[in-house]
Amino acid sequence: MPLSLYAGKKTLRLDGAADVLFGEPALVLRLHVHPPLYRKLERLPALFQQSDRLGVLHPLEARADELLQAIHGLLVDPLDERLLRGLRELAGRVEPAYVSDHLCWGRHGGRYAHDLLPLPYTEEALAHVVSRVRRVQDALGRQLLLENVSSYLAYTSSTMTEWEFLARIAEEADCGILLDVNNVYVSARNHAFDPDAYLAGIPVDRVGQFHLAGHSDQGTHVLDTHDAPVVAAVWELYRSALRRFGRVPALIEWDDHIPELERVVEESRRAREVETEVLG
Ligand SMILES: [Fe+2]
Repeated sequence: MPLSLYAGKKTLRLDGAADVLFGEPALVLRLHVHPPLYRKLERLPALFQQSDRLGVLHPLEARADELLQAIHGLLVDPLDERLLRGLRELAGRVEPAYVSDHLCWGRHGGRYAHDLLPLPYTEEALAHVVSRVRRVQDALGRQLLLENVSSYLAYTSSTMTEWEFLARIAEEADCGILLDVNNVYVSARNHAFDPDAYLAGIPVDRVGQFHLAGHSDQGTHVLDTHDAPVVAAVWELYRSALRRFGRVPALIEWDDHIPELERVVEESRRAREVETEVLG
């Protein structure tokens, strides 16, 4: 049930997704902020007024205490102070349970790639990301969760694994981790690493949320498409993640070819069943 807010010709999309965070499957609204909209964030107050009239954001504010909400987006380099102000204001309005972002880059020379591109896993990149995460957390007054992305290329300059890189960022920047189990699987297939080694390298106390999603298996490689049910191998990896990290909130991502809501809720029930099987 995507809801949309319009900012000029661009759209701020509110995605509906099922979750297993409460006793019964419930809906979580995620505000996904896409790169072309960064400049629009300064218009958030006007958007809120517009959305109040349309009745879109009102339920979020009215139920801020009971709904678990997440602001999930992309933060770019160089840091945009207006963006940070907009995010701080947004977070103040909806009091999200999480503010998260991807561990990736997506802009160069003022142009956006519209994709989640992996970083080289080097000491230089590590120091850069750690300082940025610290600045963002200071600006927002909140801890950030950083999410691992799916990737299709690797850099010859990398000197450590992705999981070592992510674990060190979390420790050195004092941020949390949003562990996308499907992304671990997709990257493991594409780069031929052991997904369980990835899980074993992530510090247990840093993981604040799981993502689960479907993907497209092309045989020679796997594409992170979020347009299908979670596959058996990812459910299996989710079991491993539960055994290591314990009861962590999980979110089903289904962004394309979205079926009837009941089908998405069914997938979230399955996640809860798997959690119960593993953790009792
Ligand atoms: Fe994800």
